[in-house]
Amino acid sequence: MRAADISDQITTVLVTEEDIREKLAEIAARVAVDYAGKDLLLVGVLKGAVMVMADFARALPMVVPMDWMAVSSYGSGTKSSGVVQIRKDLDTDIHDKHVLIVEDIIDSGLTLSWLLENFASRGAASVEVFALLRKPEAAKVHVESKYVGFDIPTEFVIGYGLDYDEKYRNLRDVAVLAPHVYS
Ligand code: IMP
Ligand code: MG
Repeated sequence: MRAADISDQITTVLVTEEDIREKLAEIAARVAVDYAGKDLLLVGVLKGAVMVMADFARALPMVVPMDWMAVSSYGSGTKSSGVVQIRKDLDTDIHDKHVLIVEDIIDSGLTLSWLLENFASRGAASVEVFALLRKPEAAKVHVESKYVGFDIPTEFVIGYGLDYDEKYRNLRDVAVLAPHVYS
């Protein structure tokens, strides 16, 4: 669905499907150069990164395996709990691999800083981050993200994989959820 289909449930469209497509092509071109000749593994963080992984991986002009990790730091609310729990671990041994974590959004940064440390301890050759979205003013810990799609304001957003209570992931655009939906 597009933002227009749920205009009564959102306040602002921050990033459109077209913006995302252009940005993914741009970042894919950079990644192709940066990882030329290297053993790259994409690791997506379920479930939010499903859309960005699907489109980003296909934008890459090279053979690249993907793996998935499921962690939880959010319940059904709109605030980070800071507690990270592994729900599904990697299937791949990342020792000596160049890992690029593909994430939907960096909010507090707690999930990614935990993942970065976890992956480093498994002996990865390198670990970098590609986050489609980032809320710079919401950071509780600093996360070095090599590739960032869009910086957005500190508001609860939905769409393109991002959910509220498991809904809205299939929205093609990224929009601010109207407060009346969750209050
Ligand atoms: P963190 O606060 O950076 O640890 O973010 C943890 C996870 O919460 C992200 O990977 C998202 O899946 C989710 N999240 C953070 N901000 C939002 C939001 O605005 N909408 C929906 N999910 C979010
Ligand atoms: Mg996520």
